Amino acid sequence: MTDLASRRFSHLFTTPVLVHQWTDAEELNRNLAAIIIKNESESTGEQRSNAGGWHSTGDFERWAGQPGHELIRGIGEAVNAATRACYELYKGRDPIRWRSTIWANVNRRGNYNRGHIQPNVQWSGVYYVDEVDSDDADPGSGLLVLQHPNVAVMMGFFAGLNPDHHAFRPRAGMIIVFPSYLAHDVQPYGGERPRISIAFNAKRELLP
Ligand SMILES: [Fe+2]
Repeated sequence: MTDLASRRFSHLFTTPVLVHQWTDAEELNRNLAAIIIKNESESTGEQRSNAGGWHSTGDFERWAGQPGHELIRGIGEAVNAATRACYELYKGRDPIRWRSTIWANVNRRGNYNRGHIQPNVQWSGVYYVDEVDSDDADPGSGLLVLQHPNVAVMMGFFAGLNPDHHAFRPRAGMIIVFPSYLAHDVQPYGGERPRISIAFNAKRELLP
């Protein structure tokens, strides 16, 4: 047998995740925060994965005004960038048409979101209008947690050596786009300032 110098090693079945930090979004975030807090005071919202906190209705585009539309354009660009990064096939072709559902979340002290997946869509994601309170001493406070998509990895394949999740600390202006099949949750928040985010699902629109 020859040695393994010419071996090939592949990581198959990787998970595509896009993370981008907009550094010019301060004014946009201020405006979005004001619109969201106003809508929170006028609407009971919906009960979904949120344990406490406020989850708006999924019609962000109807009530978020011009700042909302600016963000929606950014979300569209991020979703298309994530898709292009995955699929060479789509490069240079007409962009995919997406049907999106977008909603806002306000988590205050003690609020969190239970683990869930978003069914029957391709991409899910979140944009952070405000970051978690830096005065909050708990490093786990308000983190977004994406779970490993293969639970068997945690049980048997070098158990304990492979990360079974990845956690993200919200920063204002940050967007994260991930496949909707990834289970995710939001850790209990302990800060004073509201943790404000805008979440979305993007479903590929089928051509007639
Ligand atoms: Fe979600």
